[in-house]
Amino acid sequence: MLSEQLLGRLRGLGLGVQVQRGRHPVGPQQNPATVEEDLDPLEVRNLLALDPLAKTPHHLAFALDRTLSRLRTDHVDLYQLHNPPLSLLGDPATYEALDRLQEENKIRHYGVSVHEPLEAVLAIQTGKPTVLQLPFSIYRQEWIEEVFPMAARYRVGIIAREPLANGFLTGKYDEDATFVPGDIRHHWPRPMIRGQVRAASALKERFARPDRTLAQTALKFVLAFPEVSVTIPGAKTPAHAEENLAASEAPDLSQKEIATIRELHARDFDMGG
Ligand SMILES: NC(=O)c1ccc[n+]([C@@H]2O[C@H](COP(=O)([O-])OP(=O)(O)OC[C@H]3O[C@@H](n4cnc5c(N)ncnc54)[C@H](OP(=O)(O)O)[C@@H]3O)[C@@H](O)[C@H]2O)c1
Repeated sequence: MLSEQLLGRLRGLGLGVQVQRGRHPVGPQQNPATVEEDLDPLEVRNLLALDPLAKTPHHLAFALDRTLSRLRTDHVDLYQLHNPPLSLLGDPATYEALDRLQEENKIRHYGVSVHEPLEAVLAIQTGKPTVLQLPFSIYRQEWIEEVFPMAARYRVGIIAREPLANGFLTGKYDEDATFVPGDIRHHWPRPMIRGQVRAASALKERFARPDRTLAQTALKFVLAFPEVSVTIPGAKTPAHAEENLAASEAPDLSQKEIATIRELHARDFDMGG
């Protein structure tokens, strides 16, 4: 549950709130009653939907209609394709179908969520998404050289997801951390967990200051890039959400700090591979 205090602050910023349950809040598996219960119409102003269903351009209109019906609305502001396969990503028919949905006022804008730079480049080259959603963080900097300048050139916004490296960039985990089945981190190989924990502890040591937590430093890094329109850190508790929101008021990273983080990433955080 979001605290009243947090809701008040978000309202004060003129922001709507979409309360999500599970990874695909508007997906086919969602029971409409649950959506009704979760979404307070007064709170939902900027509605974003991730489409988990569409597998072909032809399927998009059908999938969107089902999403609209589950959300009890006639349009979504930003409709994002959820990690489409390359065949859909690189097919002009995908974007023609989305353009039609836009003309029908069922979506205001559309975007594509991707995993790799190649997919981002392909989406920009083939279609005209308003935004790309991609995993950008201190640990995932591979977008900066090619994708960001291209996105700026084509005026495509960037939604930076997983800015906290799924929690590891908060510095709270140790090398023995385990995760329950169903958590995406459950199957992560131990060397990967170890590497992420060690890198976080090196970052903590180097960048710790009383007025900026490591989580906030990680968010500040992502937000330091003008190509990034917004970041969407996940939060499991009101305290997480409060800390993450307060990143906006924490001191910015200096150019020197950003350069150091870029360099650490280039050296693989001195993990020796
Ligand atoms: N399109 C896609 O393919 C895709 C894929 C993944 C995610 N996403 C979206 O991207 C967004 C972010 O992803 P994510 O939540 O996996 O990654 P994230 O934002 O990097 O990590 C968030 C996680 O870190 C922990 N956390 C957050 N704030 C914290 C704080 N202040 N202090 C301590 N721990 C904190 C919480 O998990 P714990 O407490 O369990 O550590 C939280 O769930 C979500 O909205 C998700 O829907 C999209």
